[in-house]
Amino acid sequence: MSSLKPTIDDYLKVFKDYSNSFLSDNIDDNLNVNIKLKRDHSLRVFENAEAIAKSLNLNEKDLFITQLCGLFHDIGRFEQFTKYKTFRDEDSLYHGALGEEILKKEKFIVTESLDIQNIVCDAVYNHGLIAIERKNTISLLFSKITRDADKIDIFRIVAKYYRKSGPRNIALEYGLKDIPIISDSVITKFKTKELINKQELHTLNDFKTMQLAWIFDLNFPYTKEKIIEQGYLNSILDSINAVDQREILRDLVFVSENELR
Ligand SMILES: [Fe+2]
Repeated sequence: MSSLKPTIDDYLKVFKDYSNSFLSDNIDDNLNVNIKLKRDHSLRVFENAEAIAKSLNLNEKDLFITQLCGLFHDIGRFEQFTKYKTFRDEDSLYHGALGEEILKKEKFIVTESLDIQNIVCDAVYNHGLIAIERKNTISLLFSKITRDADKIDIFRIVAKYYRKSGPRNIALEYGLKDIPIISDSVITKFKTKELINKQELHTLNDFKTMQLAWIFDLNFPYTKEKIIEQGYLNSILDSINAVDQREILRDLVFVSENELR
C-alpha cells in the first residue's frame, strides 16, 4: 500500500492476499474448498453492497464505507475454519466477533478515520447475528446494507447448491441430517414471520426453512427484487423433502413475495 490514502483497489488486494494466505498446498481439499468459498463470497458481498449503496444514491464516502463493510464482513471466517474446521459458530465462536478482532489485530483499516473504523467494526460484528445488536446511529445503515448484501449471496450459494445433485459439502449443510422432517417449532416460527435461531435446528429442512425466513428480515427494495428475480426462494423450496410442510411453506412464501413487491 502506498503512503497515499488507500483506495478500494488497495483494500481488495489486502483482502485477497490475506484470504489466499489460508490456502494450503497439501491435499486437504476440504480446507481449500471452504477458504475459496468464503473468499469468493466476500468479493460478491462487496459487489452486492456496492449495488445496494448505489440503489440508495449514497455519496462517494458512504459508498466507500459500504464497500469496506462488504469486503471485510466475513474476515473472521478464514481463521475460524482453519482452527475449528467448521463454519458453525455454536461449535467454535461467533465469526463476527472474531472478524472485528482480526480487523483490529491485522490493522487492515487503521489509516481510515476512527469513525470509519468504528462503522466497519459494527457492521462486521452485526452482520451474522439473528438481529442487529449494535444500533449506533452512525453505523446502523451500514450494518443493514451488509446484512442484506450477505443474504443475497447466501441465497445464491445455497440455491445453486440445492439445485445440483453433485458431492455434498457438510460445511454448507451445517452438518444437519437430511431427513424429511421440519421441526414443529421451526414451522410455527415461520408462520408468525419470526426469525429462526441456529440453535433450534434439528434437520437440514429446518436449516432451509431458517434460510427462507430471512425474507422477513430484508431491509432494502434492491435486495427483495434481486432475490425474487433470481428465483432463489423456489430453488430452496423445491429442495425441501418434507412434502406436506414444504407446500405450506410455499404458500406462505408466495404471500410474502407479493407483499415484498
Ligand atoms: Fe457472509
